[in-house]
Amino acid sequence: MAIRKETLNIEKKAGEPKLKRYFQSLAKKIEEHDRHYYREAAPIISDFEYDCLKHEWRELRQKYPSLRPESEGVGDDRHEGFARFPHLSPMLSLENTYDRSEVDAFDRRIRHSLGEEEKVEYILEHKIDGVAVNLIYEQGQLIRVLTRGNGFEGDDVTENVRTIPDLPDFLEDAPERLELRGEVYVPLKVFERLNRRQEERGEAVFANPRNLAAGSLKTKDVGVVRERGLRLWIHSLGLCEGQEIPSLLDFFQELQMWHLPWVEFFERACFPEEIWRGIEALDRRRSGLDFATDGVVLKLHERRLQRILGETRHAPRWAFAYKFAPERIETRLERIALQVGRSGVVTPIAEFLPVWIAGTEVCRATLHNAAEIGRRDIREGDTVLLEKAGEVIPAIAEVVLAKRPKDSSPFVFPKNCPRCGSPLRQAAGEVAWRCPDEDCPAKVEARILHFVSRSAMHIEGLGERLISQLCRRGFLRNVADLYDLSAERLMACEKIGQKSAEKILNHLERSKEQPLWRLLHGLGIPGIGEKGARDLEKAFSCLNALLAASAETLAALPGLGEKTATDCLAHLRLPSTQQIIRRLATAGVRHIGE
Ligand code: IVH
Repeated sequence: MAIRKETLNIEKKAGEPKLKRYFQSLAKKIEEHDRHYYREAAPIISDFEYDCLKHEWRELRQKYPSLRPESEGVGDDRHEGFARFPHLSPMLSLENTYDRSEVDAFDRRIRHSLGEEEKVEYILEHKIDGVAVNLIYEQGQLIRVLTRGNGFEGDDVTENVRTIPDLPDFLEDAPERLELRGEVYVPLKVFERLNRRQEERGEAVFANPRNLAAGSLKTKDVGVVRERGLRLWIHSLGLCEGQEIPSLLDFFQELQMWHLPWVEFFERACFPEEIWRGIEALDRRRSGLDFATDGVVLKLHERRLQRILGETRHAPRWAFAYKFAPERIETRLERIALQVGRSGVVTPIAEFLPVWIAGTEVCRATLHNAAEIGRRDIREGDTVLLEKAGEVIPAIAEVVLAKRPKDSSPFVFPKNCPRCGSPLRQAAGEVAWRCPDEDCPAKVEARILHFVSRSAMHIEGLGERLISQLCRRGFLRNVADLYDLSAERLMACEKIGQKSAEKILNHLERSKEQPLWRLLHGLGIPGIGEKGARDLEKAFSCLNALLAASAETLAALPGLGEKTATDCLAHLRLPSTQQIIRRLATAGVRHIGE
């Protein structure tokens, strides 16, 4: 990565004072982005831009030692309100690059430092785009989990990390004192689901899975953390007292014995050309992974050699990260469509000329809300650069202003519901605009579609188009109407013959036996997702038992708060919901009454 063009100009034209000012302003900028990135877990520029700033700063520092900057640390994620504890050994960062030649230079440096007699072997792993944590075990017992903090001491996030399933509390045959370093992440599927829910609730969406993981780790409500479905991979070793682990492969073996989640995909490389083969092999694997990765980490295999090389204040000399520059594809934003969700939130969706990006064809991307469009001044007809956030979710990274049509005008978010025409409303403190009409056909269709969806009652054969037709014909007004459908009504719709109609009726019949949590989830109770519905099922034998409970009882359940509890009961006690529940019971849907 090179020093930017503008800087070169300053270097050429100006004397040292000007360069020094520039250098200081760069340092200030980085400091500000460090704060957004580490402390607030909400960066305002892309990782790539952030890395470019840091690389430029480092290059200038090397080139002009007289500028004498403070030496660079590893950022600081510590928050007020968290207990702080020291790491047993410092938690360092990693040197990284987007430049292939720098990887080769790293390899040459290692071989040169170790001399010809030493056999150099690397282990290559995915660089997980999550949040670094340090797990401290003493006599095999997990005593504390810390964030990186300032590298020397971090915030205690033990309780939140304990929500991770399968994280062992005790390790058999473990060394006296042990530090394991890993990466906490939110699985990509969970990330997508949570963001859909945020949109649906009219709340701000999470920028990417890593920010969500970082924000979750720093959440004080364990119930909320549990909903975030955090996961962990252990990738390296800190202090290890009382046992010698001679190589990374030995380390992996120990991790398996301790039943800890470890980075299962790795490549080995002994020769320079094997490094690139390994990196490419890992790159090909990325799209199949359930977590975001942003590069490959090369590590020297033998601990003895790692020790010889040692570390700088900032990073070990025996490891290096090659980061993948985000793939950006240009396309044209043809139209901004508006989608009305089941709670009435109007979500703008960008529709593009289809393009291939990171292995899939993309023609739509959510623009989240009106404020986002306004802030970024995204317009219909714009040429845009698409990027995949967290590698699965396509997003507009940039508008190519130079290619904006002369006659373009800012997008005007409608004042009325695009489906039923009701004036849209915005609740105080919310970014979303909602259609307030409970009978808005878009909301009715979305509610029914949710009820039959795979994650709720799982009734096959009833897709978006069929539901929309059934609604338009007046056969469906709410979810209870589903159980009044007849073969004739179904066959009145396009492309539905006798056979398909019978199949659908069969699926409907079978769905009456679905477990309580599916029914609860299907009813679209505010604040109750799939996880919440499963928790409620554990506490109540049937829907009526839940209805008879007090808000206090509900609020005391794990994962539910006071607000969710009152919202949930208020929704279930609405006369319209009550009527639907009675009709479902009459139709034979189970788990409503004892
Ligand atoms: S090894 C002393 N392996 O990336 C550092 N780190 O940007 C040794 N990371 O600090 C770290 N995946 O938090 C290692 N497979 C992997 C990793 C990994 C992600 C993180 C780690 C590191 C950061 C640097």
